[in-house]
Amino acid sequence: MEKYIESAVLQFRTILEEQIARQEKLENDNEICDYSKLSKIIIGICYGDGIGPIISKESKKLLEYLLEDEINKGKVELRVIEGLTIENRIANNKAIPDDVLAEIKACNVILKAPTTTLKGGTLESANVAMRRELDLYANVRPVSVPEQNIDWTFFRENTEGEYVLGSKGIEIPNKLAMDFKVTTEAGTKRICRSAFEFAKKNGKKNVAIVTKANIMKKTDGKFSKIANEIAKEYPEINAEEWYIDIMTANLVNENIRSQFEVFVMPNLYGDIITDEAAQIQGGVGTAGSANIGDKYAMFEPIHGTAPRLIESGRGDYANPTSMFKATEMMLRHIGFIELANKLNKAIIICTETEKAVIVDDSENSATCSQFGDYLMQTIKKL
Ligand code: IPM
Ligand code: MG
Repeated sequence: MEKYIESAVLQFRTILEEQIARQEKLENDNEICDYSKLSKIIIGICYGDGIGPIISKESKKLLEYLLEDEINKGKVELRVIEGLTIENRIANNKAIPDDVLAEIKACNVILKAPTTTLKGGTLESANVAMRRELDLYANVRPVSVPEQNIDWTFFRENTEGEYVLGSKGIEIPNKLAMDFKVTTEAGTKRICRSAFEFAKKNGKKNVAIVTKANIMKKTDGKFSKIANEIAKEYPEINAEEWYIDIMTANLVNENIRSQFEVFVMPNLYGDIITDEAAQIQGGVGTAGSANIGDKYAMFEPIHGTAPRLIESGRGDYANPTSMFKATEMMLRHIGFIELANKLNKAIIICTETEKAVIVDDSENSATCSQFGDYLMQTIKKL
């Protein structure tokens, strides 16, 4: 037992030093990418695993059409990045193999399909690694159900919390396991500021600060304290504190849920509650997600690789809407507002108003590419 304790204490010292170094870097980092000043925007498209290549190829077609002029003028380049597969990651024993990471970092913005995340073992999730490597601290997930007056935007802290040391826990075989959660002041300030700035710019009146500070006293306690301090700088916005358990219930409480607008929360709570919110919107296949940093940004579906769909031979029936939403958010982020609006309009026509081709879980579902063609034809008519 003594040898386990000793090695665990050593490991703890190492991760503590690493986290202190990370937070110092965070405090001093101020590299910002202004997309409007780039002579060319390089968009990397990572195909990923499972349904990833199927749905992302539809987005690629869409981007080639929407950005045709910019591509021809050399103002935009689309680069396909193929190496982010589970096979390649296992072969390299790296969450993101070095050459793939270099390709990703040579782009300005990434559109990423889902990648396999292994349970257990030591191979880290590619999402988590990319969020860390590109310092994508704000995971922004919009959910809207207009007919129910639901218009939510979740700001999930994306680089720390329960995730940052998720592959660096301690285990004493046959006895116990311990994971660590990390909340830094700089990391919390920037996600809270993003949420309140978004609320201010978009005329939102309410920000819900969601934690479990009654139990996670140190980490969520810090998150809550800092969020409330930042809230004071926005007196026009009503900031409310909620615990994650009751907030999870609130989202299915039809009497009150439409009063919520913006949410800000630590990483894992944001992961869980945004799947719940996406389900209220029509399923995780309908939700896109923006991972925003100061230098890079990455856009992806909210969901995983849908291994059950692949195993049952129905991969071609995957719903690409989440990928289209991610594409729309990406276009908006890099400054192509009109194209983003056009895409958004077409998505609404295809999924809410006209619904001439439906891609869903049923036996009669259209294929992913049939739905992609339908969206493309709809855009061409706009
Ligand atoms: C998400 C996903 C990821 C996460 C997985 C695939 C690692 O669930 O983006 O919400 O847990 O963040
Ligand atoms: Mg998730």
